Amino acid sequence: MVSLRTDVGTVALDRPGMVASGIMDETGPSLARMIECGCGAVVTKSVGLEPNAGHANPCFTEVPGGYVNAMGLPNPGIELFAEEMEVAVKAGKVVGSIYGASPEDFSKLAGRMEDYGACAVELNLSCPHAKGYGMEVGTDPAMVRAIVGAVKSSVSIPVWAKLTPNTHILQDIGRAVQDAGGDAVVAINTLKAMVIEPEFARPLLSNRFGGLSGQGVRPVGVRAIYDLRTVLDIPLVGVGGIYDWRDAAQYIMAGASAFQIGSAVGSVGPEVFSQVNKGLEEFMKDYGYDSISSMVGAAHE
Ligand code: FUM
Repeated sequence: MVSLRTDVGTVALDRPGMVASGIMDETGPSLARMIECGCGAVVTKSVGLEPNAGHANPCFTEVPGGYVNAMGLPNPGIELFAEEMEVAVKAGKVVGSIYGASPEDFSKLAGRMEDYGACAVELNLSCPHAKGYGMEVGTDPAMVRAIVGAVKSSVSIPVWAKLTPNTHILQDIGRAVQDAGGDAVVAINTLKAMVIEPEFARPLLSNRFGGLSGQGVRPVGVRAIYDLRTVLDIPLVGVGGIYDWRDAAQYIMAGASAFQIGSAVGSVGPEVFSQVNKGLEEFMKDYGYDSISSMVGAAHE
């Protein structure tokens, strides 16, 4: 008998897959729908203090093996997001993703997500193209320590930090999260990217820069989780280019206790979760793994 249940610290999940922030997660009904598709939890679109319209179109384009987007963190603001959370938390476990520019912003937002019933908060320290937010605050270990420390002292739900691969000091940033009391690290967000339209001699996205997601980023994500596992004791959540069970197994064997799926929800469909669950179960049966925890970090041995 194999079991897909897993724990990310104190967050117990019936299944190891979650919807990654940014995909089918801006409204209560879309979050609830994804929970029904075989996820262990869903992560909301990143929400800030004030409503934000995001970047002008074009803000999204397909590339071979994935997407480049610069949505610009569109969201209704934390106060209006209450109504979406009310619907979503009735359906299952919801991780509230938040972005801010300072420890104070993050603390306020985390407090509201806790009030709304989130099972954990995920700090967006990694959006690669938002002025003053995301990786602009998330690549400075001192700032990361201050943000995580401030959020930890303002909420009692677990605090996860989503990190960027766009740095050569990922392990130092991971250590900053752990030292400040962070409960888990999520890696990776998108790779900073650009697409140019030769006919117009200009970048395609209105924001010029965007973030690359999809199959092409998977080896970067797997390497990031592997590197983080060698220096951290807190749980890891792997994300980046998971399209099938083999991809999910790579992240688990690199050291992740759970994983998130984003781009494949767009290109395969929400059924990607049931396909991954089925494939993982069969693999575990065939190869003698009775639990997700028995596979975590297997590639380090
Ligand atoms: O543009 C966006 O909304 C993307 C956010 C992110 O990559 O974290």
